[in-house]
Amino acid sequence: MDVNKVLKKMTLEEKASLCSGRDFWHTKAVRSQNVPEFEVSDGPHGLRRQTLEDDHFGGSESIKAVCFPAACATASSFDRNLLTKIGKAIGNECQAEGVGTILGPAVNIKRSPLCGRNFEYFSEDPLLASELASAFIKGVQSKNVGACIKHFLANNQEHRRLSVSAEIDERTLHEIYLAAFEGAVKDAKPWTVMCSYNRINGTHASQNKKYLTSVLRDEWGFDGVVMSDWGAVSDRVTGLDAGLDLEMPGTYGINDRLIVEAVKNGQLSEAVVDRAAERILRLIDRFESHRSKNAKWDKEADHELAGKAEEECAVLLKNDGILPLDKNDTIAVIGKYAKTPRFQGGGSSHINAFKVTSFMDASHGKGHDLIYAQGYDDQKDETDRALLTKAVNAAKKSDVALIFAGLPDNFESEGYDRKHMRLPDCQNTLIEEVLKVQPNVVVVLHNGSPVEMPWADRVKGIFEMYLGGQNIGLAQYELLFGKANPSGRLPETFPMKLSDNPSYLNFPGHDDRVNYAEGVFVGYRYYDAKEYDVLFPFGHGLSYTTYKYSNFKVSKRKIKDTDTLEVSVDISNVGRMAGKEVVQIYVSPGRSDVPRPVRELRAFDKIALRAGETKTVSFILDKRAFSYYDESLGDFYVPSGDYDVEVGASSRDIRFTKKVNIESAKLPRRRFDENSTFSDFMGDPRLEALLKPVIDSFNHVNEKDLKKSEAISPEMVEATFGPTPLRNVLGFGDGTFDHEKLKQITDKANKLCGLSD
Ligand code: BGC
Repeated sequence: MDVNKVLKKMTLEEKASLCSGRDFWHTKAVRSQNVPEFEVSDGPHGLRRQTLEDDHFGGSESIKAVCFPAACATASSFDRNLLTKIGKAIGNECQAEGVGTILGPAVNIKRSPLCGRNFEYFSEDPLLASELASAFIKGVQSKNVGACIKHFLANNQEHRRLSVSAEIDERTLHEIYLAAFEGAVKDAKPWTVMCSYNRINGTHASQNKKYLTSVLRDEWGFDGVVMSDWGAVSDRVTGLDAGLDLEMPGTYGINDRLIVEAVKNGQLSEAVVDRAAERILRLIDRFESHRSKNAKWDKEADHELAGKAEEECAVLLKNDGILPLDKNDTIAVIGKYAKTPRFQGGGSSHINAFKVTSFMDASHGKGHDLIYAQGYDDQKDETDRALLTKAVNAAKKSDVALIFAGLPDNFESEGYDRKHMRLPDCQNTLIEEVLKVQPNVVVVLHNGSPVEMPWADRVKGIFEMYLGGQNIGLAQYELLFGKANPSGRLPETFPMKLSDNPSYLNFPGHDDRVNYAEGVFVGYRYYDAKEYDVLFPFGHGLSYTTYKYSNFKVSKRKIKDTDTLEVSVDISNVGRMAGKEVVQIYVSPGRSDVPRPVRELRAFDKIALRAGETKTVSFILDKRAFSYYDESLGDFYVPSGDYDVEVGASSRDIRFTKKVNIESAKLPRRRFDENSTFSDFMGDPRLEALLKPVIDSFNHVNEKDLKKSEAISPEMVEATFGPTPLRNVLGFGDGTFDHEKLKQITDKANKLCGLSD
């Protein structure tokens, strides 16, 4: 399509009408110019294509498709290649079905374990979320189909999601909530971005020029289409001007007419409509010009991939030597989810799975001695006594009890948040009752978000499957019987209890405002800073083999913030089974004037190792890895000083640390005057040097006398100096300073900070 030519020939009315959907899933065709309609479909962990014409509510049944593990699970793979593979499979399905864009990935940060959509999101950590999203997008788009990264921005709860204002400071936005999108937008260049429903600091995401245009396009270079979440538009004309190109679904022409009127009465420039229409035309052309009309997809092959993927995702949380299971044991398989697993969440991401493989299906005919008991009714919270008794009896008769537990569908879903972090009471009771008769208990969990585990220290094994997709049973069978080696790691912290979570006092907010008062201290950034015990830490996951870390190196001990640092470590598989280790690099700042997390994940990789094999893994860290977002600079900033670079197998299992000193090229834009304190100068050698004459002016104070004095301890001298304003040298110094001399010093400091007068 010659986009410029088509655009020129389109009337204002046609251009406006292109900027909103015809129905739930299509843009409108522009018949006069032969522009076809363009179809989008939910996802993100499979194709939820609804074929009913003119469905304006999205309620019709979707086609039979393949449900891959949800993002809560794929995130625990920590495996970029896996995400790309899944992306490619879904991209191919889209090609075959004529879908131009899949509505995912969803990268919102897991601020609270209660968020109803956490199962669709990746992590509490922005680096992990954006890296995995990027890998998925690349996979989808390699098939000439668009991905749609969503929900931009700060949609971290379901409660009043269409109206709530997320109140967040700029530093927190840049370090945590924007960062989850930033890496993926810059690196994978998604064709589209979906704005969220909520408001950010009072302004609707759908009309927030600062984020839709200044940050997304001007700073990050995004050049695709921004579409609204479904029904997220409040003021269409303001939204269009702010950078929202496409409204989904349409409003039967109501908002299109408002756009036309706004142009006619001079409220809106026609160039703004042209810009949006042009982007939408380019999107359509991108798909149409590479459309593989003969593309086919193979449901069985994708089903197989879904099972293999889940094998990489499941996290072995605890193993007192009970796993893998012994093939010769009699095993009581307890719990409904062993037969009818919970493998996906509810809402717009729900896939019409063409088939489902359970653990019982996967182990059928393999010669195992399994006694199945349903154990609980997942439609109820209370215990069904008859089911419980049968389960306890099965456990008594067996060598091991394998309990398939988890959250029922109505416990977590799009549209509402959880009220608590517990499993249904009937399932906790079941585990407790089985423990009374059987010491060998393994719990296999199906949930999209952390749960409390009051029995964790008494069961011998815990497997977190998350929501593992339609072939979850295959993965469970392979992992539990040791045909596959677990390699998933937690992409979020499992706190001991809900009230430990940093957002606890400010979730989900009230009066349509939610205050992100914990700032950057989200997830492990908070638990580590508070030194809280957690049930299972971020990055944790066990294996059936053992990995040894050695030879940890950093390329330099002293660098400038403009340099990069190479970090490497040798990982050896010293056990007897092949496996995959997730190597995690954290950076911990030394002295800091601003409150900073104890450590932050700055690089990771997943490495396959045969038994006995050693590999060297290398990472490059750049400025961003050491920085925080400085609001005065409006940029990321690395204060000069010492940093610890750490390598670990989890955020609480750090194996080696190396100190690196960094000298920053820039200084924060802080203005100095006579009232600036001594401590304002400390930390950076260039500023500290300016203070020397002032400090010399205190030399008349006899240190020996001070030491002798009982009233003034050396600690007190040091403590008083820090917060002392510079101007105090006029009275407490040796009389050599005056206002003019002080001004010369503060002028120099301001110059160093890039402020001229
Ligand atoms: C969800 C989006 C989804 C859209 C279309 C919205 O309610 O928030 O994630 O893509 O519906 O179904």
